[in-house]
Amino acid sequence: MSKTYIVGNWKMNLNVGESSLYLHKLLKRLKIARGVEVVIAPTTLALQPLSLQIDRKRLKLAAQNCYYQDFGAYTGETSISSLKGIADYVIIGHSERRNIFKETDKDIRNKVAAALRNNITPILCIGETESEKTFGETEDVLRDQLLGGLSEVSTEDLKKVIIAYEPVWAISSTKGARLASPDDVAASVKIIKDQLKALYGKAADDMPLLYGGSVNPSNAGAYLMIPGINGLLIGGASLIADHFIDIIDVARRVIK
Ligand code: PGA
Repeated sequence: MSKTYIVGNWKMNLNVGESSLYLHKLLKRLKIARGVEVVIAPTTLALQPLSLQIDRKRLKLAAQNCYYQDFGAYTGETSISSLKGIADYVIIGHSERRNIFKETDKDIRNKVAAALRNNITPILCIGETESEKTFGETEDVLRDQLLGGLSEVSTEDLKKVIIAYEPVWAISSTKGARLASPDDVAASVKIIKDQLKALYGKAADDMPLLYGGSVNPSNAGAYLMIPGINGLLIGGASLIADHFIDIIDVARRVIK
C-alpha cells in the first residue's frame, strides 16, 4: 500500500517557542498511523530545535525552502546539506517562492537535484494561477513546471520525489481564494499523470501526488478520495494543532 502524506506548511508563522508548544500538543494526541506519513514544515529557525523534540516514528520535518549550493558566499541562504539529519523533506517551488521571490524553473530544478543528492525528499510544488486558468493555459503551465523542475531527475530517482499540485487561485481561501472542486483537481491530476507518464513511462505510476489549496478538516476527505491523490499539503489549517490532527484522523479513516 502506498503512503498517504499529510504535510503541514506553517509558512512564516509560529516562532521557535510557539512551534515547540504546538509540537508538544501534537505529540500528545498523535498516534502512529499505519500508512499515514505526517510531516510539518516549520520556519527554518525552528527546524533544529524541533528536530530534537520529535519522535520520528510519528512525525517528520520538512524545510520550506533551501539553496542548492552546499556552501559559499550566498548571504542569507540555507544550504540543503546543512538540513541533513534535521529535515527529511524539503518543499521546493512553492507558488509563494515562484511568485513573490521570483524563483525560476532553473532554481527549482537545481534545488530538486540538490535535495536528491543529499537524500532529502523534495516536494515539488506546481500549479497554475487564476489568470493562467482563465486563459486555458493550465495544461501548458503544469507541463512546463514539471519539465522545468524534473529535468535533472533520472527515472531511477523519480521514486524519491513527491509532487504537490497547488492551484494558486485556491491557496489561502481565508484571504479570498476560491475552493477547488474535486472535479477541478481530478482534471489536473489527469494532466499531471499523463505528462509524467510521457516523461518517465511506467516509473511514473508510483510517484506520490499531493493536493494543496485551502484544505481543512471538512474538505480533506473529499480531496483524499480523488483517484491519484496520495496526500495533502496544508497551509492555514495546519497552524491550529487541533485542525491538523483532525485532518490526520480523516486520512486515517479514508485509507482504512
Ligand atoms: P492553504 O496553503 O492551505 O492556506 O491554502 C496551502 C499552501 O500554500 O501550501
